[in-house]
Amino acid sequence: MPKSRPVALITGASAGIGRAFAEALADRGYDLVVVARDAARLEELGEMLKTKHSTSVEVLPADLTADEGLMLVEDRLKREDAPIDLLVNNAGFGTAGRFHEISIDKEIRMVDLNISALVRLTHAALDRMVARGSGGIINVSSVAAFQPAPGNATYSATKAFVSSFTQAVHEEVRARGVRIMAVNPGFTRTEFQQRAGMEAEKVPGFMWQQPEDVVAVALKAFDNRRAVIIPGIINKMTATFSSVAPGVVTRKIAGRIMKDPGAARLPRK
Ligand SMILES: NC(=O)c1ccc[n+]([C@@H]2O[C@H](COP(=O)([O-])OP(=O)(O)OC[C@H]3O[C@@H](n4cnc5c(N)ncnc54)[C@H](OP(=O)(O)O)[C@@H]3O)[C@@H](O)[C@H]2O)c1
Repeated sequence: MPKSRPVALITGASAGIGRAFAEALADRGYDLVVVARDAARLEELGEMLKTKHSTSVEVLPADLTADEGLMLVEDRLKREDAPIDLLVNNAGFGTAGRFHEISIDKEIRMVDLNISALVRLTHAALDRMVARGSGGIINVSSVAAFQPAPGNATYSATKAFVSSFTQAVHEEVRARGVRIMAVNPGFTRTEFQQRAGMEAEKVPGFMWQQPEDVVAVALKAFDNRRAVIIPGIINKMTATFSSVAPGVVTRKIAGRIMKDPGAARLPRK
């Protein structure tokens, strides 16, 4: 019997970077399981990919901050009769503002989605992949992972977790035939900034990337078995600067970019 097409499960596939992953993976010959809360947008994506690439698309609407939604997706990842070859943990959101002024419920929901859901889905998928000796996971982190960011404190910390966690697990499983990689985009033209209430129009044009470009870089790096990739020269320079410059300076600069007034003045000494 000929080998069936590989299957990728993408979270947050209804918009932005997740949707771009869906299109790029369909183009590479993957069938898809697409996850997000908005079922209508997932159906529309499925129809488009069926027409354009003859992709088989399973629509799995789920809220990954709710136990019920999370369990639905975990169960799908564990199915032995229809294994998942590639998991893209992409669903995530941010908030903007000083931590003590943001609703704590929203901050905890962000931790639930950006960290807890990603850890649980990675665990559900990895178990089967290691047993099979094949498969891969791409975790969408952020260039914010490299830098504590005043005005974006919880978000940047969730992404620092994703990057650290992913690179450690990469080493644990690389000899077992399974790949796991973190991709760390910078400012990308999606719905992210609007949903987070960020003032995107104040970010200079040269700092932005398109989601398709982020995904193309991520998939090439994944092919090359990288543990981590930072798409875009500006983002690479930002991450490098953050790792060598003193924290007292980088925190202030990050605060300025995030428009946190408390971080607006650089230290005099
Ligand atoms: N855009 C950027 O500048 C940027 C930079 C660095 C990293 N990132 C990261 O890239 C990833 C994708 O973000 P994006 O830029 O593509 O943003 P986006 O356009 O807002 O898309 C976010 C996706 O996540 C889904 N989602 C949100 N909450 C969810 C929940 N509770 N359960 C299930 N799905 C949920 C959304 O779908 P529904 O609303 O239908 O659920 C949507 O499909 C995120 O992890 C983000 O942190 C983005």
